[in-house]
Amino acid sequence: MRHLTSLKELSKDEILEFLDLADNFIDSEGFIRRDPLFPDKKVVNIFCEPSTRTKISFEIAASNLGCQIIDFDLSSSSLEKGESLKDTIDNLAKMNINLCILRHKDSVIHELIDQTDSMVFVSGGEGAISHPSQGLLDIMTVRHRKDLDNSNILIVGDLDHSRVFQSFIDGMTNFNSKITLCGPKELCKDVIESSNLNYEADLNKALKNQDVVMALRIQHERFEDKKGLDKESYLTNYQINNEKLEIANDDCIVMHPGPVNQGIEISEDVYNSANSVILDQVANGVAMRMAILIKYLSQ
Ligand code: CP
Repeated sequence: MRHLTSLKELSKDEILEFLDLADNFIDSEGFIRRDPLFPDKKVVNIFCEPSTRTKISFEIAASNLGCQIIDFDLSSSSLEKGESLKDTIDNLAKMNINLCILRHKDSVIHELIDQTDSMVFVSGGEGAISHPSQGLLDIMTVRHRKDLDNSNILIVGDLDHSRVFQSFIDGMTNFNSKITLCGPKELCKDVIESSNLNYEADLNKALKNQDVVMALRIQHERFEDKKGLDKESYLTNYQINNEKLEIANDDCIVMHPGPVNQGIEISEDVYNSANSVILDQVANGVAMRMAILIKYLSQ
């Protein structure tokens, strides 16, 4: 049985297959097509960290495919009485749930996969390590506007704490676009040390000739001290605003996985500009999650 925990598990052909399958669910007017292929399948959403986009888009995707979707409410579950996540999963498996979408701050998904035979796991976000469905929908969004093999892509912000960044890079290593990283050294130190991607600390230099700019949220919940971060300095040096965006190519698209700290990583006018594809990412997320459910429920 296969599970989806990371885009490192997928080949280039498999990624392209996901992109094509997801595109199939978007009609000519941009609406998502329903296709009730799995009336007998049960899918559970277990989100041990907050979520809006991922959780709800998986719910809509499962419903569009005719699945029964169970929204596992942590606060009213027996986890609150001390039951372990492993026992919880064992019990859900006995209720014939076929697939579990799991978001957790720790890497528990791998132990659960090893311990459970009858349920497929799809990561809805694993700590700062991986967010494969987001990676796929981000690559899908780039492909709608740009050539995956011949674009300049800049990723700006809190790289060290971003699972979105990790999964996007895992997927994009299959393509030939040029990726540049940018952000305050306090938030990029680990990535600079471990990655062989080009890092440019100066956003004004980094933005030159870019076709795609992806801004990342500062993940305050993933580090305890302030890391010497100063809001005004971040805004001056790293916020994507109209003045900065002028440096990039005219048709440069602006992405952000959300949730957006409005007025921090990106100015409101850029968020609302024609360059912004941030809400397209959200819409594409439903189609991509339908493609993921089809693949992993069809085994
Ligand atoms: N991009 C993303 O994972 O958003 P949510 O946390 O709202 O799911």
